[in-house]
Amino acid sequence: MSLPSPLELLDQLESEAPAELEDCTSPEELEDYRVKYLGRSGMLRQILSSIGEIPSEQRPQVGKRANALKQKLSKKFEQKQGKVSSSSGSEEGAPPFDPTLPGRVNSRGSKHPLNLALERIVEIFERMGYTTVEGPEIETDFYNFEALNIPADHPARDMHDTLYLEDGRLLRTHTSPVQVHVMEAEKPPLQIIAPGRTFRRDAADMSHSPVFHQVEGLWVDRQATFADLKGTLELFVHRFFGPETRLRFRPSYFPFTEPSAEVDIQFEEAGGEWLEILGAGMVDPEVFKAVGYDTDRWQGFAFGMGVERLAMLKYGIDNLQLFYENDLRFLNQF
Ligand code: PHE
Repeated sequence: MSLPSPLELLDQLESEAPAELEDCTSPEELEDYRVKYLGRSGMLRQILSSIGEIPSEQRPQVGKRANALKQKLSKKFEQKQGKVSSSSGSEEGAPPFDPTLPGRVNSRGSKHPLNLALERIVEIFERMGYTTVEGPEIETDFYNFEALNIPADHPARDMHDTLYLEDGRLLRTHTSPVQVHVMEAEKPPLQIIAPGRTFRRDAADMSHSPVFHQVEGLWVDRQATFADLKGTLELFVHRFFGPETRLRFRPSYFPFTEPSAEVDIQFEEAGGEWLEILGAGMVDPEVFKAVGYDTDRWQGFAFGMGVERLAMLKYGIDNLQLFYENDLRFLNQF
C-alpha cells in the first residue's frame, strides 16, 4: 500500500476539516484544531513542504489548491473563534452573551406629586421669611376648637366632621391648632408655616379623603395688616401657579379670623371658572387672648390651604384618590 499522494491528502483535508471545526465547542478544542491543521507543523504545512517530492508538473496544481484551502480554513477558523470565545466565561448551558443586546435600564423613582407641591409651597414661604414648624396630629378639643374661638356649641364645628379617639382626644381637623401651640411657646413677632396631615370623617371620593394635607400660615407683628395678607397670598399664587394667574378675595367666615376671606383663582382650562384654594383672615383677638398675647400691641393674619387641592389644580389631576393609590403609571408622570 503506497502513501497517499498530496492531492489525495488535500481531498481528505477538504472534506474532513470543516466538519471537525463545526464540532469544536471550547477554546481548548479550537486550539487543538488549529495546531492540527493550520499550525507550523500542521497538515497543510506538511503538504506544502512535501511539494518538492512530487512530480514537477503536479506542483503548481497542488500549491494552488493547498493555498486556497489554507485561506478557506483560516477564514472559517476565525469565524468560529469569534463565536466560541464570546460564549466562554458564561455559565455552562447558559445562552451565549450577546453584546449587541440593549442594556437594562435602571428604573428611577420620582417624587410624589403631593410632596412636589408641598416642597414648592414651603420653598415659596421660606423665601418670604417664614419658618417651617410642625404640630401633633392627635389634638385635644382645646387646641383644635376652643382656643380657636370654636366653643362646644358653635355651629362651625359642623364644618369639621371630627374623628375622635376613645380617650376624648381627636385627630386634628385642620392645621390651625399649630398656631396655638406656636403662640403658647413663642413670644411675638413670629412668622411661621405649618404643613401637615389633617383628618375628617369624610368618605373617600373624587374630591374627599379622610386624610389630607394642609399648610397653615401665621404672621404676628406690630403692623401685619390685611394688605400684607393680600400681598403675601398674591405673591404665593403667582409663584405657585404662574404670574398670569388671576385671584380674588371673597368675604367668608372663620371663628378664629376677623375679617375672613376665601381666595379663588381663575382657571382658563376650566372655562374661566373660579376655584377656591384657601381660607384666610386677620387673627381674631379671642385667639390672641387664649394664648396670652396683648391685643393692643400685636396683630396678624393667618391662612390655611389644602395641598391636595393645590396639587390637583397645578398638575391637572381630576381625582383625589390618585394621590393615594400608588399606581406607578400615575406616579411616574411627575
Ligand atoms: N383652618 C381653616 C380650614 O381648615 C382654614 C383657615 C386657616 C382659615 C387659617 C383662616 C385662617 O378650613
